[in-house]
Amino acid sequence: MHKDNQIFIEACFMKPVKRTPIWIMRQAGRYLPEYRNIRSKNSFHEMMHTPDLMAEVTLLPMNRFDLDASIMFSDILVIPESLGMKFELVSKVGPVFKTSISSSGDIKKLNFNHSYFKNIYSGIKIIRNSLDKTKSLIGFAGTPWTTACYMVEGKPSKDYMKIRSLMYNDYESFDLLMRKITDATISYIREQINSGVDAVQIFDSNGVYISKKNFIKYSLPYIKEIINFINSQNIPSIYYAKGLCDSPDLIMQTNSKVLGIDWSVELSKVKSATEGMVALQGNLDPAILLCPNNVIKSQTEKVLQSFGKGSGHIFNLGHGITPNVRPESVEYLIQQVREMSSKNYE
Ligand code: CP3
Repeated sequence: MHKDNQIFIEACFMKPVKRTPIWIMRQAGRYLPEYRNIRSKNSFHEMMHTPDLMAEVTLLPMNRFDLDASIMFSDILVIPESLGMKFELVSKVGPVFKTSISSSGDIKKLNFNHSYFKNIYSGIKIIRNSLDKTKSLIGFAGTPWTTACYMVEGKPSKDYMKIRSLMYNDYESFDLLMRKITDATISYIREQINSGVDAVQIFDSNGVYISKKNFIKYSLPYIKEIINFINSQNIPSIYYAKGLCDSPDLIMQTNSKVLGIDWSVELSKVKSATEGMVALQGNLDPAILLCPNNVIKSQTEKVLQSFGKGSGHIFNLGHGITPNVRPESVEYLIQQVREMSSKNYE
């Protein structure tokens, strides 16, 4: 067993466990009435940068449910902010940057300010001290590609065309942007780990907006650098590969110890393609949490059966939980995973 008996970490390293650990992407979010209550009194930025508030929000789902891991409350867009690009959360739109990147001059001007993160590190220390020793704390960042999509577009987009046109048109500037994001991200993750996170997940939520061929040249090298750094710290690396999960050979090249699988593919297929070399996290369709309990139960069983016997599965959704889910459904899901998964380890 891992030094603190954390079942989540054991499963990430494919060690023997007695049941499948579970946590939920976006578990510290708007489907929780307690989150909405805190949010009605504070801005999103106040919640991210006030250490006590950040810790409180991170622990909301841990206090309510029997989850095996907690993910620090923050956002992938803190990296652009640390490079000098501020965003605002606009209701019904999402994060909108005050200015976006529109020239190579804008990229040259990006200047990393490490002290931007200081309250986040204080928050991590508070969380790790309050969290049960058997529960893991997950730190995170976006991949350089996913982060750059937002920086170049300036706001959420249906197709993220601007970043691809920069990539084809001016590789030198594209590479400088990716370089700056990668360096800032490694520095950020190093200090997350020093402050107490037990594992780090890299979100490639916009992985769906790059072709498989271009992924190898324009996204993979930067991801690999980050994953290799996490691996060098002897804690689990998790790569969440939205839109790329039908190409296990490609996402294996990130060197990640755990692959986060989106809801579009069969776990059994990814498992046989990766030949037990990596652990898999996922991949219940988030829409299933909007269904009655009997559907949640049967679909959860399908995911568990799809992974099948043996260690190396972490249960999760195939993308983040949505704000319209009832917390009772989450409670039911966790209970079902705990009860049904043990037979995979007999
Ligand atoms: O998982 C967790 O509970 C931890 C916190 C977390 C948030 N964002 C909090 C948040 C994490 C891990 C993220 C990652 C993130 N942020 C991603 C990757 C994961 C994914 O879902 O694909 C992305 C693409 C972002 C960027 C972002 N931040 C968007 C697009 C939005 C607005 C729309 C949305 O999906 O919520 C945010 C805001 C945000 N980040 C909220 C929360 C709880 C909502 C804030 C609010 O209005 O109260």
